[in-house]
Amino acid sequence: MMLYYTLTSFFKPTMKKFPSEFEDLLNANGKRILNSKQYPSNFTKKGAIPIEVVNNIIDQDVAAKCIAILDKTVYAKLKPISSKINPNELWGMKKNYTERLSKNLRMKTMEIGGPKSRSYEAAQACGLIQMLNSESLRKFGEVVASTRFGTAENNQVICYESGDYVSPHNDHHPENENVKNGFFDIHLMFSNRHVEHQLLVHEQNGYLNQCYNISQPAAMAIYKLPFWHYTTPLIAKPGKEKMARRWLLLRSFELSK
Ligand SMILES: [Fe+2]
Repeated sequence: MMLYYTLTSFFKPTMKKFPSEFEDLLNANGKRILNSKQYPSNFTKKGAIPIEVVNNIIDQDVAAKCIAILDKTVYAKLKPISSKINPNELWGMKKNYTERLSKNLRMKTMEIGGPKSRSYEAAQACGLIQMLNSESLRKFGEVVASTRFGTAENNQVICYESGDYVSPHNDHHPENENVKNGFFDIHLMFSNRHVEHQLLVHEQNGYLNQCYNISQPAAMAIYKLPFWHYTTPLIAKPGKEKMARRWLLLRSFELSK
């Protein structure tokens, strides 16, 4: 039995790069969604906030291979970013109940810049750029959102580790002509087996009280921003705080004209 297990593990094909088409990561359910004419989601429900998290589209062993590629080729290129709570937001208050909290966060990230940037080189070498730019990734998002997307905006990689989070914010960019009326985000997410949980909380009818569990081994979230939302601190399994990682591969699109 042991010999059989060792042999099958040894001959299991490894994945050295992301496939050039997102479709090739999908399981049967993911392919069914990709090829469907319509998908029932919050994008078509009257009054719902336009966000949908889709689970069970990539098998766990494939997700583990994606995580292995990201750990090996991208992790060392990430930069930590953090923005702490300004103490003046508490001790500078002059009146009761006038508190205001600016956006604060902690995570590691890599914006994928132009072809001459080091981040681009790393992301291209592991096939990430080709996969994020693939037609099937855009199509999957468009099926779930029940609409066509416009021009692709940018690609970014984010990695949340134990205690990393983002406080409430809305991603409205009124100074940017191309996205001032909104934009679409596709988040392809992979959590390793050391993650206990992390939630995405978003507004609904004026309250921040709707949430999704975003710590599945693999999932995709499709957003039409802006709206208020935040990401709770990543909680690792006990004793696994140094190893827990949730990867977020992000591609943004303008609204279609
Ligand atoms: Fe956000």
